[in-house]
Amino acid sequence: MKNSVATKPYADQKPGTSGLRKKVPVFQQENYAENFIQSIFDSLEGFAGKTLVIGGDGRYFNREVIQIAIRMAAANGFGKVMVGQGGILSTPAASNIIRKYKAFGGIILSASHNPGGPNEDFGIKYNASNGGPASERITDAIYERSKAIDSYKIAEADEVNLDDIGETELAGMTVEVIDPVADYAELMEQLFDFAAIRGMFGLGFRMVFDAMSAVTGPYATEILENRLGAPKGTVRNGKPLPDFGGHHPDPNLVHAKELYDLMMSGDDAPDFGAASDGDGDRNLIIGKGIFVTPSDSLALLAANITLAPGYAGGITGIARSMPTSAAADRVAEKLGIGMYETPTGWKFFGNLLDADKVTICGEESAGTGSNHVREKDGLWAVLLWLNILAGRGESVEDIVRKHWATYGRNYYSRHDYEGVETDRANGLMGSLRERLATLPGTRVGDLVVAEADDFAYHDPVDESVSKNQGIRILFEGGSRVVFRLSGTGTSGATLRVYIERYEPDPDRHDIETQTALADLIAAAETLADIKSRTGFDAPTVIT
Ligand code: G1P
Ligand code: ZN
Repeated sequence: MKNSVATKPYADQKPGTSGLRKKVPVFQQENYAENFIQSIFDSLEGFAGKTLVIGGDGRYFNREVIQIAIRMAAANGFGKVMVGQGGILSTPAASNIIRKYKAFGGIILSASHNPGGPNEDFGIKYNASNGGPASERITDAIYERSKAIDSYKIAEADEVNLDDIGETELAGMTVEVIDPVADYAELMEQLFDFAAIRGMFGLGFRMVFDAMSAVTGPYATEILENRLGAPKGTVRNGKPLPDFGGHHPDPNLVHAKELYDLMMSGDDAPDFGAASDGDGDRNLIIGKGIFVTPSDSLALLAANITLAPGYAGGITGIARSMPTSAAADRVAEKLGIGMYETPTGWKFFGNLLDADKVTICGEESAGTGSNHVREKDGLWAVLLWLNILAGRGESVEDIVRKHWATYGRNYYSRHDYEGVETDRANGLMGSLRERLATLPGTRVGDLVVAEADDFAYHDPVDESVSKNQGIRILFEGGSRVVFRLSGTGTSGATLRVYIERYEPDPDRHDIETQTALADLIAAAETLADIKSRTGFDAPTVIT
């Protein structure tokens, strides 16, 4: 038992966020990580003698915190820790390990797509026995505990050798260092038609996977190159680096620009390009000459999923986060299955998956996943795409265009304003909130506001209600603009503006996206005074 100094983790982070994310120097303060980990353990019950899974995305400070977490797990009475070799476990792989080995839970060290390094971001999150992010009940308890914590338990022991697979003993607890890839690769083999995908690569299909020097490198190399026979070099930036090579490990069109440019380079471009983020739960999908928005990707995957053996029996329902486009809704309608609109954040999908109300879910922010784990899963989405491409024998572009022709196209874009002063961002949202009731009927250019509200979610499984999840402004004709503040940024506030227009007419499916959305973008500015309220002339990122 050690007394801890007054570094109260979480003190300035709002409760309800599913983990703690701060700059590395903050985590390096004396007892800081220890206090947070003890707050997690103090908020859990009944884990004596049980198994805890530990792993992270390999970013700077990963190994140090893993050593601390192992010794604290021993002192707190866990019976066993399973830890990824080298301290590595992607978020979806950790979710799978927790489920497969019926662990009590897991600690995942990651700040997802945020940069890594001595002055960049670090994070700790807790996942429960279903493999998914801790429920709000648990995160609230951790938050409360972290405000009062004044001591923690840690075993006096030598460092664990994280590099050799096998079992050792630490202060009466078993530590098993496991291959981080094997169980995950086996799960993928069960879900997808590896023979068909191998056949496609055998016929000269060319793909590039950019692991962004983050955690998916070893997973992608083993699965794509070793098991599916893609040529060596298919996986780029495949070695996880503590600072991700100095890049943002965020698979969007800004940070994966090289991949995007390659895919748009004309006839010589590869057939398929994909990327994942820091901890392996996000995906970017680009066909030769065509970027597939995550919202469209969710709809396309749902519409074609029965080509994959693991889903041959069909799906029970689809869930998407509220700001994600309604493209998937049309697929659900056609299939006659349930469609659920949840607040942003993966944890809301967990209940729906556990209750088997949905099989597949996704977010506009490049997260897609299914009931195979309880996290979004980047490589899973890539493999499902490959399975569909092999099954249909058509190009990405043909598949996307046929989909639009059948269901209509949801033009979609997200405009981010990063690093806005917190007061100004709150002011913008507050002003919109105050005017919500007066907006219906307002004319902005050629558009007329039909409805405006602040999204509230009623969980159909546990009946919980989550309010203030984003302001939706729906226009006559079905187009919409959504405003919300990011819950994951670590400096200032990030305003996200989501813009969507539905276009049924196939003759109008070739308009450049920002052009197709121009009147809605202008309406967003008029309604929210974005420029003057944020002090920004333009978004910092457009996706
Ligand atoms: C962002 C994404 C959201 C995702 C989350 C965690 O959250 O928008 O969809 O679930 O990261 O990866 P935000 O910063 O918008 O709160
Ligand atoms: Zn992530």
